[in-house]
Amino acid sequence: MVVLDYKQITRAYAILSPMYDLLFQRIFHPGRVAAVQLLGIKPNDLVLEVGIGTGLNLPLYPPDCHLVGIDFSRQMLSKAREKVKEYGMENVTIKEMDASKLEFPDAHFDHVVATYVISAVPEPVQVLREIKRVCKKNGHIVILNHFKSEHPVVGTLEEFVAPLCARLGFKTDLKLMPVLKEAQLHPEQLHRVNLLNGWSLVRCLNE
Ligand SMILES: C[S@@+](CC[C@H](N)C(=O)[O-])C[C@H]1O[C@@H](n2cnc3c(N)ncnc32)[C@H](O)[C@@H]1O
Repeated sequence: MVVLDYKQITRAYAILSPMYDLLFQRIFHPGRVAAVQLLGIKPNDLVLEVGIGTGLNLPLYPPDCHLVGIDFSRQMLSKAREKVKEYGMENVTIKEMDASKLEFPDAHFDHVVATYVISAVPEPVQVLREIKRVCKKNGHIVILNHFKSEHPVVGTLEEFVAPLCARLGFKTDLKLMPVLKEAQLHPEQLHRVNLLNGWSLVRCLNE
């Protein structure tokens, strides 16, 4: 499996940030809508979005929840902050933070979500462990991501392009079930979303 390093990812998202929305808004939108719905947010819930990026999910949250969005890319976060201002979202807090060392107490959030992030972090299992730690018992953890295909031909192709994609800031060869297992997360719902059903949308109950 390819390894992503912090420098590589920081550089990749600094370069991508001005064109990120143009490239990824439409194509990934159906998955975003489904992910936020799957959180099952109730009024006044405190929700954490890990790796919020440019904030493309922001308009999808109910206005009566409290949202904290974190990311370690300043350039991506400045786009998210612009959206918070533009949409007048007083219920949203944006913080610069490393997802593998979340600066929140245990069991702090009602629900946690990460869209298109788990394959873009250097330490996916550590990030999932942190997500589990900061989420309340029985809270929902929703992960939306592309994972390595079980299909032998597609899986081989994904391995082949993995070194190039790593330079662009994401892995194509990350397998879903092993990372969930290592982080002791158990999927209670698994859906396929987006183009050709190529992305997995997983909801785990934080037991
Ligand atoms: C593909 S983008 C996804 C952004 C957003 N979640 C979305 O749905 O459009 C991946 C994001 O993960 C962030 N990221 C990668 N590693 C991170 C880490 N260790 N801590 C915080 N953010 C990280 C990147 O800066 C980038 O904004």
